[in-house]
Amino acid sequence: MNSILDYETVSLIDEDDALEIIDQTLLPGRIEIIRLHTAKEIWDAIYLLQVRGAPAIGVSAGMGLYLLMKHSQAGSYEDFMKELEEKSEFLNSSRPTAVNLSWALKRMKAHVEKVYEELLNSNGEKSFEQIRSAIIGEMRDECQRIKEEDIDVCRRIGEYGVTLIKNGDGLLTHCNAGQLCACKYGTATAPMYLAHEKGMNIRVYCDETRPLLQGARLTAFELHSAGIDTTLLCDNMSASLMKSGAINAIFVGCDRVAANGDAANKIGTSMVATVAKRYNVPFYVCAPTSTIDINTPTGNDITIEQRKPEEVTEMWYKERMAPEGVKVYNPAFDVTDNELISGIVTEYGILRAPYDKAIKELFVNNK
Ligand code: MRU
Repeated sequence: MNSILDYETVSLIDEDDALEIIDQTLLPGRIEIIRLHTAKEIWDAIYLLQVRGAPAIGVSAGMGLYLLMKHSQAGSYEDFMKELEEKSEFLNSSRPTAVNLSWALKRMKAHVEKVYEELLNSNGEKSFEQIRSAIIGEMRDECQRIKEEDIDVCRRIGEYGVTLIKNGDGLLTHCNAGQLCACKYGTATAPMYLAHEKGMNIRVYCDETRPLLQGARLTAFELHSAGIDTTLLCDNMSASLMKSGAINAIFVGCDRVAANGDAANKIGTSMVATVAKRYNVPFYVCAPTSTIDINTPTGNDITIEQRKPEEVTEMWYKERMAPEGVKVYNPAFDVTDNELISGIVTEYGILRAPYDKAIKELFVNNK
């Protein structure tokens, strides 16, 4: 192994009943692979951002639910489902904004229900033990499929996204929507990796992304490791960079896109989009359809996670950098209004405004 890109962000270690992740809180200084076994360990890893980014959280939740149900002692289907719902609710409570978390858990539950129906309708009487073991096998396959699909979806986002890039372009990104937030390619970085693969000459600028520095610690790390021309900047520097003409396009990921195209992403994204509008820089949101939530009408309906004040006042500093007792505003995400978005790049193509119509059509055409 010589690059961070050679490691899997999330994987299932069946023989150890474990979810294996890179502990992203230690990057870039140390690459440490850890194994999670219990519900509490998985919950903590998601909350503490040891595994983070919307797609990776979804894959972790799906795999986590399978592992937690693998040794269920339930004696009936009803008890099994009750337990599955409790575990699912617990995992879902770890972070509220990224819809991929609840999406993956709902998908796992729906798959179990479908398998159970099929078993009931198949010939021959079956004991609950036989049913349980068939369901567990199917849960394993389903969570692996979520991971494999994520890789394929990110690659396809990259293929559409790269059509928006020209040789010689300067690109800006915020937070980490890279391989470390998914299983390969990432979402916002997929067009960049594909441009690089094609031998195009691009420069990527990474906002450091206060307060948790995902841009500096993760995006700059993975793009630089891939040999892409990478420049790091503080969050308050992107306006002057855009004004200078160095940025031709902006690609960001997202945690939830509402039905009207408003998009929640890491705090600071809406500021970047607002400045981009001022300087006529195209602003693209890269979103797998699993991140588009048609049940959330607008950005105002998205729950924004509030995090601990210490992330702002002392984390990453040698000593505390704010007076004791001062109030702190620390939302983890903000919502970019749809009118600031030049296009939403999905695995099915690039959506353009009006987004409510484009999103409706996307779901009708790709059921
Ligand atoms: O708090 P994080 O690090 O999980 O936030 C991650 C982001 O905001 C990403 O941009 C988003 O999840 C998209 S990842 C494809």
